[in-house]
Amino acid sequence: ERIHMKKIILDCDPGMDDSMAIVMAVKSKELDVKAITTVNGNYPVDITAVNALKVLEMLGRTDIPVAKGMPEPMFRETPKDPFTHGKDGQAENFLPDPKTPLSEKHAIDMIIDVVKENPGEIYILSTGPMSNIAMAMKKAPEIKPMIAGIYAISGMFGLNKYAFANATGDTPQSEWNVYVDPEAAAIVYNSGVNLVAIGLDVATHFDVNLTENDIAALDKSDKIEAGFLRQAIRFVNGRGFEAYCTVIDCMAVAYSIDESLIETFEGRVGIETKDGLTLGNTVVDYRHHHVWEDLPKVKIARNADHQRFLNMLMELVLA
Ligand code: BDR
Ligand code: CA
Repeated sequence: ERIHMKKIILDCDPGMDDSMAIVMAVKSKELDVKAITTVNGNYPVDITAVNALKVLEMLGRTDIPVAKGMPEPMFRETPKDPFTHGKDGQAENFLPDPKTPLSEKHAIDMIIDVVKENPGEIYILSTGPMSNIAMAMKKAPEIKPMIAGIYAISGMFGLNKYAFANATGDTPQSEWNVYVDPEAAAIVYNSGVNLVAIGLDVATHFDVNLTENDIAALDKSDKIEAGFLRQAIRFVNGRGFEAYCTVIDCMAVAYSIDESLIETFEGRVGIETKDGLTLGNTVVDYRHHHVWEDLPKVKIARNADHQRFLNMLMELVLA
């Protein structure tokens, strides 16, 4: 059966929505999760690594290795997060401490090794700052042509008002994952790898909202992961946010399961790495004339079938 599964590495910083992304990826019959690598982002890497293990233990899938990665952005200090994922980084679900050990490998080496063992087959789902992925490309540039694709929750492209209204970085128009480590993002965007950037335009669209019925179904379920999502929604609602915050990163997983879910277009994107008002911005050159040809071409998410996304999410959480 595994022959038809898409092989993935999930590089993440759990994080409540990263935790839900792990749930979806691990429970999906379409995906073969080769490794989870964790990075500094929503929380320090010691916490994001333990949080990934907690989710795998909740799911009874401790066969999947978790490797801890970069403790800091490549060249900067970690900025302050205007949002919070709670005391435990998991919307205060306070899952039990894991018994499973972390992999002895560093996340950078885990990425390099898994890609080399499966040349041309690995999709990297990136739901945190790109520090690990960029470092893997620096350490072993030969892996670049071996990566089938990088599907990232990354950036915002000014396609609609949601991106602007829900900007997650700590400059007015940046997205958190790019904002935390813009130099790493620039390396990955410039790598030539097939990159799909699922920005806030699509990932925080207002239609990404669970209905009363969905919430009732979560309440009724005896799955721990359903309770986890229910508590996360309660947590963000209590702080004046909408439910979409709990599932942003899930969209990268959903896209890897079914690429017809999101429509993309090709655009040239530059990452702002200078400090100030626009640090971390993902600037698209939409011009007909005088386009900066040296900006890398990436695929940008334009539209998603949000209803189908939510159905897929609910099905996997409740399964
Ligand atoms: C990203 O910011 C983080 O807080 C979330 O986990 C998500 O990956 C969205 O900008
Ligand atoms: Ca994340």
